[in-house]
Amino acid sequence: MKKLIVGNWKLYVSTPAEGKKLIRDIDKKLPRGLKVEVALCPQVSLAPLLKSSYGGKRIAFGTQDVFFEEGGAHTGQTSPKALVSSGIKYVIIGHAERRREGDTDDIVAKKAITAIKAKLHPVICVGEPTRDTEGAYLTYLTNNVVSSLARINAVDASKFTIAYDPLWAIGAAEAPSPRIVAEAVMFIRKTIADMWGRERALKVRIIYGGSVNAESAALFAATPGIQGLLPGRASVNAEEFTNIVRAFQK
Ligand code: PGA
Repeated sequence: MKKLIVGNWKLYVSTPAEGKKLIRDIDKKLPRGLKVEVALCPQVSLAPLLKSSYGGKRIAFGTQDVFFEEGGAHTGQTSPKALVSSGIKYVIIGHAERRREGDTDDIVAKKAITAIKAKLHPVICVGEPTRDTEGAYLTYLTNNVVSSLARINAVDASKFTIAYDPLWAIGAAEAPSPRIVAEAVMFIRKTIADMWGRERALKVRIIYGGSVNAESAALFAATPGIQGLLPGRASVNAEEFTNIVRAFQK
């Protein structure tokens, strides 16, 4: 399985011109002989347009949320089919900033299965809002993983990615140590193995997000089990983002 670097642009890029320039800069700086998958996720109002204006092949496009119904009376939502038919491949689901605004595990589970059925590749975010010393966060994380994946069939283990993207690590001064992240990733894989068996669990790609930059990316890349990254702020800086990609080339 290829490593995956997904840039979550959040609302940092808000015009087509800005987006096109950033994509051009990133494309130019990407290493030759790219071995990892690179995806950029602009806001939904820009993603299809930026995808269609991008002439290259090395960057895939995603966006930051999707609805769990394909059609009907749902004002203001985005259907998976509309994204797929616009060439969008990835979709971030259940990001901590969406969960904070009301996405429950059940909503996340519904969005994830609808996206998979539509042939989008969801990047399903999980992670505890805070850490404690008694280990209550592990119980939270177990429930979070089990219920976010509740509607997915084990045979589809390779059709989505999990991002361990805990709220406490997002927008921080620096990323947590690779050891802390690797332990959580191992715990998530063990949780999936308990649901689906070890063989299937090994097919799930697990990446990390939260205050990643080029420097910490090098440490994460050298840590077994971390199969990619989900940078936010660093993804709108072409130099920083492509250095993150470069770290995972090795
Ligand atoms: P950050 O965002 O890299 O800016 O902390 C990461 C995220 O929100 O997943």
